[in-house]
Amino acid sequence: MVLTNSNKDLLDEMYETALHVAKEAGKVIREAFYKEKKVDTKMSAADLVTETDQAIEKMVETMIMKKYPSHKFIGEESSKDGERHTLTDDPTWIIDPIDGTTNFVNSIPEVCFSLGIKVNKETVIGVVYAPIKEELFTARLGQGSYMNGNKLQASKITDLKKAVILFEGGASRDAKILEDKMANTHSLYTNARGMRSYGSGALSICNVAAGRGQGFFEYGLHIWDFTAGGLIATEAGAVVMDPSGAELDPMHRRVLCACTQEVADSLSKLLVHIDMGWD
Ligand code: IPD
Repeated sequence: MVLTNSNKDLLDEMYETALHVAKEAGKVIREAFYKEKKVDTKMSAADLVTETDQAIEKMVETMIMKKYPSHKFIGEESSKDGERHTLTDDPTWIIDPIDGTTNFVNSIPEVCFSLGIKVNKETVIGVVYAPIKEELFTARLGQGSYMNGNKLQASKITDLKKAVILFEGGASRDAKILEDKMANTHSLYTNARGMRSYGSGALSICNVAAGRGQGFFEYGLHIWDFTAGGLIATEAGAVVMDPSGAELDPMHRRVLCACTQEVADSLSKLLVHIDMGWD
């Protein structure tokens, strides 16, 4: 799709649709949040899915494809383990119905619906909605990012020693991967002010955008965990890149986000860069 003035209206409409869909997903999360959940495991005992994840994804996919039948859709629950996706120039809606499923199962409020839209392989819209905390993060390319309508600005800290770094352990239980992740955690406890792990990659990136910490990294997450949050962070002035320092590859299952280039570079130098494959 070529972006022109005439399809500015289409992008406006897609943004409104994204907000509507996020609010509908949020209602379903809220209704199920304090009830008993039917839980299944996926790749490992730490990789969970519930009926609610599946129901939201089905509902959202139906809503989007009915309105935009020629658009592409990538969703966490309809993607099979190990399946490779191909990004095209077509508008592509990338969703995680519940990011923070383990939190959801345990009624911990750090859960969200995440929706990013790419056009010509570039993220143009990002919406992350945390319905229990009533926090709606939004961004459009070149137009800033917001939480509940208030403009976001990432922290200006440049010194890693003054930074709080968010991270996620992820679902892999492979011994070598865990060893490398423990080494990374150790380096950061030694070199940063503090570490936090909230259980949702998407919300962690939004937290960096909101100045609630200065960095986030994870090896092993997926395109649906960081597409929306990535735009929300860069529109708030943060840096989003591959942990090695290279340009972010949306299909490579790893990401580093930091409030400033200086913190990003310090993190990148310290971390053991784990290759967890591709979406
Ligand atoms: C997971 C969460 C978790 C992160 C995993 C993600 P899900 O998403 O964001 O914090 O460590 O890599 O897959 O499974 O709850 O949607």
